[in-house]
Amino acid sequence: MTDAARLAVLAGRHLDLVTAPFTLPRSRVLVFRADDGEGVRVHTSEYERRLSECRVLDALTVVDAAGEVLPVTGVHPARVTFGDVATLTFADPSTLSLGPSTGSGAGVRVRLRRPDGRVEEHPLGDGIRLRIAADRSVSIESGDHSAALAASDEIWADWFAKCPTVRDDLQEMTAFCWWVLGANIVELPSLGDARAIVPSKIGYVGLWQWDAYFIAVGLRHGDPELAREQLDIAFRFPQPDGQLPDVVHELGVLATSDDLPDSDRDNLRRAGSQIADPGAPVPLTKPPLAAWALRKVLEVEDAPEYARTQLGRIVRSQDWWFAGSDLDHDGMPEYGHPYSSGLDDSPIFDGPLPTAAPDLGAYLVRQDLEIAALLERYEPDVDVVRFRERAATTQELLLRMWDDERGRFLAFGGGEPQLSDTVVGLMPLLTGTLPEPIAETLLAAVGDPSRFALPWGLPTVAASDPDFSDERMWRGPVWVNTSMLIAEGLEASGYAERARELREQTVRLVIHGGGPHEYFNPHTGFKAGRATTAFGWSAALFIDLAVTLS
Ligand code: GLC
Repeated sequence: MTDAARLAVLAGRHLDLVTAPFTLPRSRVLVFRADDGEGVRVHTSEYERRLSECRVLDALTVVDAAGEVLPVTGVHPARVTFGDVATLTFADPSTLSLGPSTGSGAGVRVRLRRPDGRVEEHPLGDGIRLRIAADRSVSIESGDHSAALAASDEIWADWFAKCPTVRDDLQEMTAFCWWVLGANIVELPSLGDARAIVPSKIGYVGLWQWDAYFIAVGLRHGDPELAREQLDIAFRFPQPDGQLPDVVHELGVLATSDDLPDSDRDNLRRAGSQIADPGAPVPLTKPPLAAWALRKVLEVEDAPEYARTQLGRIVRSQDWWFAGSDLDHDGMPEYGHPYSSGLDDSPIFDGPLPTAAPDLGAYLVRQDLEIAALLERYEPDVDVVRFRERAATTQELLLRMWDDERGRFLAFGGGEPQLSDTVVGLMPLLTGTLPEPIAETLLAAVGDPSRFALPWGLPTVAASDPDFSDERMWRGPVWVNTSMLIAEGLEASGYAERARELREQTVRLVIHGGGPHEYFNPHTGFKAGRATTAFGWSAALFIDLAVTLS
């Protein structure tokens, strides 16, 4: 077996058809285990639509000559096997192919139940194909099944040939995470044949701005070109004032509160959010970590022309934060909307908006320094003094958010201090230039079992905080991206050993939790109830951490 074939088999062990569906790079078709355990069901993956709205076939079963339904007996990235009699694969991104595993499929039938309840049967014969149209209708065709199998095998063999080699104990999960990145590739019709890696084909079908950064950071280890493509798509559609959109999706971009889908507004209303129905459109973006991601992607493979194009876009977006999002004009930009922080329901947004937050301050300091360094390398004629000066000014303003008595950085909502003790307050470690007593205090917080040192990692809200919940999204669960950023911050602040421990703990969590889920319960180390699975940045950052640790 080649290495790629071995890695595909390792990844296949995790394809349970529940948390990880059968799919293909570029495909919008998802195959899950059927709810009654008999056969599979087929869905499409669409922007801001629930899976239950995207039904193609409620059941697809394979029935042998004796009339017995054949169970799913094996799942490999390129094929699902039914009772060793038939296999299912892709003929192309919108066409499934079914055919006999060996010999002929004489007497074997394929039974389909459509969402309207209609049931039909087709003889398997030498193979049949199910072509799934954009309106989710299915048409039956004939076709060469072995050619489809060979083509799918080749797609995954090419994909796994790029999977990074890591420490033995991390290799199997790295293979699965590499599968997640490949499986999450979609085409966005508005972008020609560009390949966007979505956060999740179950739930987040678009290219989210900061997800793209984290995904690129993991992807760079095996496919730097595709990593560059993610950043290019993310940066390609700025608003006229330079602001980057929150999401690039198949219908356009999500760049202001006016672009929010109805489902999202309803959620905000239900949560009683003050920002559900703003008087004027509020810009929506994601945290300024663009230059950080670009630098990391360029580290593995240089691309000067590309770097110059992207840098121009990043500089405009960084300038936008100061020109367009310093809403109280005190020099320190704010989040005008919780979504722009990426930490949607963090308790720092329970108070009035806009919110000045220590993570934003830290990211902005870091981004100005990253920009200066990148410009010195790629645009030696450009004067970078203004970026360094702005970083110093922002850092001063950031230090004013330090509350000496409480020993914490505080966020300010509508000018009022927000007392919740969250991971946001640890992010200033990322600047790497905090006064030593402050850095030491944050280090102690990271190691404090009553606050951030929980059994399975670093929670997004301190366990001792009244707002802590071990299940609610950004109100306590462990996220791989915030853990990874804090590890970088610890390293940048001179605590390399503590950074390594946090990285080890984070990869252990993903393995224990059974995969790169969206977020994890910090007490059990398992997926939080409402978290999605096969999640892009958890997969990508697992890979990045695994490579760093190997
Ligand atoms: C959620 C997260 C946000 C992320 C998005 C897509 O809204 O809060 O940070 O960008 O999902 O994954």
